[in-house]
Formats: sequence, C-alpha cells, structure tokens
Amino acid sequence: MLLSNLHFMNILALESSCDETAAAVVKNGNEVLSHVLYSQISTHVLTGGVVPEIAAREHVAKVLPIVDQALSESGLTVKEIDAVAVTAMPGLITSLLVGVDTAKTLAYVWGKPLIAVNHLNGHIAAAGVTKLRMPDGKFKKFKLVEKFPRILLLVSGGHTQLFLEKNKKHRVLLGETLDDAAGEAFDKAAKFLGLPYPGGKSLAIEAANGNPAAYTLPRPLHNRDDFMFSFSGLKTAFIDLVRSLGKKAQTPKVKADLCASFGQAVIDSLYIKTEKAIRKFNAKQVVVAGGVAASSTLREIFSTRLKKIGVHFLVPDLSLCTDNAAMIGAEAYKLAKAKKFVSPKTLEPQATRHTRHGS
Ligand code: KG4
Ligand code: ZN
Repeated sequence: MLLSNLHFMNILALESSCDETAAAVVKNGNEVLSHVLYSQISTHVLTGGVVPEIAAREHVAKVLPIVDQALSESGLTVKEIDAVAVTAMPGLITSLLVGVDTAKTLAYVWGKPLIAVNHLNGHIAAAGVTKLRMPDGKFKKFKLVEKFPRILLLVSGGHTQLFLEKNKKHRVLLGETLDDAAGEAFDKAAKFLGLPYPGGKSLAIEAANGNPAAYTLPRPLHNRDDFMFSFSGLKTAFIDLVRSLGKKAQTPKVKADLCASFGQAVIDSLYIKTEKAIRKFNAKQVVVAGGVAASSTLREIFSTRLKKIGVHFLVPDLSLCTDNAAMIGAEAYKLAKAKKFVSPKTLEPQATRHTRHGS
C-alpha cells in the first residue's frame, strides 16, 4: 500500500465481538462498498442469551464465507484492498479471537497493513458514513452534518457513556452508567417478561402498540447534576411492577403498555442527561450510536426534543446501529490516516466489559 494513496483507501473490516459475524469493505472511511452480516440470533434464542463458546464456533464456521461475500459484493479484488481492520476490543474473548485471528492471517498472507479497532469507537464512527450499499445493491447517500461542540451518547448492550467532543480530535468522557447498560436493561426486562432474545428488539416490537404513559417508572439520577446513569433500580422497579400485576402482565394490552412505559423511562433517562450536557457545554449537535440507537422510541424522542431546542441530531442509519463491520472500517480509516497499524504477529484481542447475556 502506498501511504500517499490514503485518500483512496479501501479497507476490509471484520467484526466478531459478540454474536454477529460481519465483514465490510469501506472506502475512505465513509463509503460502504459492501457490508455483510451473519446474525447468530436463531442459535442464541434457544438459550435466551449468548453462550460464548457456541458463539465462537459459529464465528469460525461463518467468518470466511462472510469475508468472501463482502469482497465480491464490493466489486474489488484482494489487490485493491489497502488494509485489513478488525475489532480487537472490547467483547467476548472467544468471539473476538476468531475475527482477530482471521484478520491477522489475511493481513499476513496478503501482505496488507493491519488495523486494530475499538468496537465502541466503531459505533460512533458509523454516524460518519455518507454512502451505504443496501441489501438490494443500490447505494443510499447521506449528507453529513458535523457541528461542534457536540455531545456523543454511546448506548449499547455493554455500555452507556456520554462524551463531550469539543472538536474532531478532542473527546472527553462526561459520565457513564453506574450499573447496567441501557441495552442490558432492555434485555433483562424483556427476558423477565418472557420475550425472546434479543430482548431490546422484542421489547420495542411489543411497545409499538402500548401506551408509554400507562405506568409510572422512575428516571434514576435525574436530579443529580452529574452525567452518570443508572438502570438497575429502574429494572428492579419494572420487575416489581410486573410481579404486582401477576397474570395480567401477560395479556397483550398490559404487556404492550409495560414495554412502552419501560422503553419511555429508559430513553427519557438517557435524554435528561444528554440535555443537561447540551446546556452545560452549549452543544450544537448530539450524536447517538450503539445498538440502542436502533430504538424507534429513542430516535423519535431525541429528534423531536432536540429540534425544539435547536440542536442538530445525528444518528447512524438503522442498519449501522447494531453491531456491523462497516463501522469498524469507518473507524479504521482514521487510524490508518494516523498510521496506527499493528503487527499481525503480535495483535491480541482484549475482552474487558461487554455483556449480552440478558441474565
Ligand atoms: O451495539 P450492540 O449491537 O451490541 C453491543 O455492542 O452491545 O447493542 C446491542 C444492544 C442490545 O442490548 C439490544 O437490546 C439493544 O442494543 N437493541 C435495542 C434495539 N435493537 C437493539 N434496544 C432498543 N430498541 C431496539 N430496537
Ligand atoms: Zn456493539
């Protein structure tokens, strides 16, 4: 690869941190030429959550066919790929190992530079995609608006974090959850109601027919001046409410109202702290990323309320909110520009905190 050719950089990216095996080819960090994903949901639905060892076996079975498909859909040959990128952290260690070992091997054998990507930064980078290949092969284009200072809210199954970005190069953590992540709260609440894995999505489907004002649930820490979140008390309040309703909780109308009320409480809690940060730092834009950004309740509440206060709302395309490899390719481009490559002989994945067990 010629470093002078960086403006025309095609990156083959891999993602396998949890239960999605994904590969993508991303040009210049914002054009997604291909983006292929195999979801293990049908396997994990049987156990009500991800069993790491089973997830890893599925990654092994799927990773090479997925890489092949991503390459062929991109219309590029291996020769035209400038670098290989992979999620190296955080995630389930056995899942990460499959992607990392595959990427190391490909980079080594093809003689391409290797880029190690932090999954969380990948989620945020998804908001910068401007051209995206859709399943029908057509490209969807987005106008990218970036305004600073801005607030970033990262909400996934393992993380809930609020950042301030003064400019493109300056990101500081303002606060995070003291206990459960927002997605984890959705997954646990859904599991308690007997909804199928993955919980966040099942709960959102139920909530579509419910009344979000039907039940009163707490907005934890809303009175505190800091930017910390907490969802475990809200989850407990929800479980107590469901228990108090007994069999009624399983009737369609009550179940829908419960899901809608819980969804509203979680998203409201996220919004309250986000608006607090906007006011404190005079932010011009809010970016929300991670699996929970796929929530239609979140997208509606944030877009309506932010519009009212004149703050721009940037959220990735729905298909790029939950785990995917396009976001890894997008983030990898920034690292490539900074010449942050790693050795295929020494790269090791790192697990750290990442939960998707719904227990
Ligand atoms: O980012 P992600 O795909 O994986 C992690 O990095 O954790 O996020 C997964 C989380 C899960 O907790 C899931 O319940 C939640 O995102 N999620 C949703 C929706 N789709 C996925 N939460 C609310 N509404 C959705 N539509
Ligand atoms: Zn994720």
